[in-house]
Amino acid sequence: MKRLNSQLQEDGCPLELILLIRTLLAGCKEISFRVGQGELAGVLGSTLSENVQGETQKKLDVISNQILKDILSESGYVKALSSEEEDTVVPCHPEGKYLVSIDPLDGSSNIDINSLIGTIFSIQHAPQWMDADDPEAFLQPGAQTVAAGYVLYGPSTVMMLTTGRGTHLYTLDKTHGGFLLTKGNIQIPEQTQEFAINASNQRHWEKPMQDYIGDLLKGEDGPRGKNFNMRWIAAMVGDIHRVLTRGGIFTYPYDNREPNKPGKLRLLYEANPMSFLIEQAGGMAWTPEKRIMEIMPTEIHQRVPVIMGSKQEVEVCLEYHTKAKKD
Ligand code: AHG
Ligand code: MN
Ligand code: MN
Repeated sequence: MKRLNSQLQEDGCPLELILLIRTLLAGCKEISFRVGQGELAGVLGSTLSENVQGETQKKLDVISNQILKDILSESGYVKALSSEEEDTVVPCHPEGKYLVSIDPLDGSSNIDINSLIGTIFSIQHAPQWMDADDPEAFLQPGAQTVAAGYVLYGPSTVMMLTTGRGTHLYTLDKTHGGFLLTKGNIQIPEQTQEFAINASNQRHWEKPMQDYIGDLLKGEDGPRGKNFNMRWIAAMVGDIHRVLTRGGIFTYPYDNREPNKPGKLRLLYEANPMSFLIEQAGGMAWTPEKRIMEIMPTEIHQRVPVIMGSKQEVEVCLEYHTKAKKD
């Protein structure tokens, strides 16, 4: 089986980027090991602290963030880092060529129930003009991302990665510690009969989303003329992994619980990297109005509504929104 290095070289990746990705993955392997040890490694449970977004941090959120922060800032390849678990940007190395944004541990509510969790990452060029502690440098549209992916700590540890030449799936071979290519050029089926949304928020959604999901639920007797299945893992890495594997639509829409929050998921280290993976696999990733990768970020912890996955299904969902605007 092909090793990660060979695939990255084939994809024309510059050496420094390959080394950075490998460094990042060394950190993820450490997290994978600790996740596997679970209670034995003291990774379960909460801390007493909150992150800048007001969420109580789990021990594993803090541990994963620290592992990745240490390894990336010592590498010399990274100029600065932004993370869900850091209030502001972390300056790393003044000569570093890249900026890295991370969700060190996605799916925190799954940690203590031994369910799916992962790490999401996104890599951009560090602009020449920037100071290492300047958050403005991170405010680049997702379309400028040079590499993005996630590592899913499931029954097997897998990594989905894109450097703009397709989306490839690797599996961690724990016998020698290497990531081996197990499925190249992932293609998401254009049509699907599976959707993912946290349905408990239904009463808070806007009307177009209410109508769209309502019609899916009507099944073959409704306007869609077919039955739909629903899945919700409560970890974007798990849900997007399923979508990339067998198709589907994943959405975390805007809702009116907190009118000033434009959604739950964060643009820099959740929505953008997943959009890059999805688009490189032939899928679509939009807000109700525009392609997620074209959004010009205004701050590092910015949130966005997301609708992503199988192309034709995302288009149908978007039509409900455009139609509502016209009416
Ligand atoms: P995180 O654990 O990094 O804070 O992210 C959790 C996110 C995302 O992974 C998932 O899709 C969503 O929150 C789950 O939200 P609900 O709690 O509403 O199910
Ligand atoms: Mn997350
Ligand atoms: Mn997280």
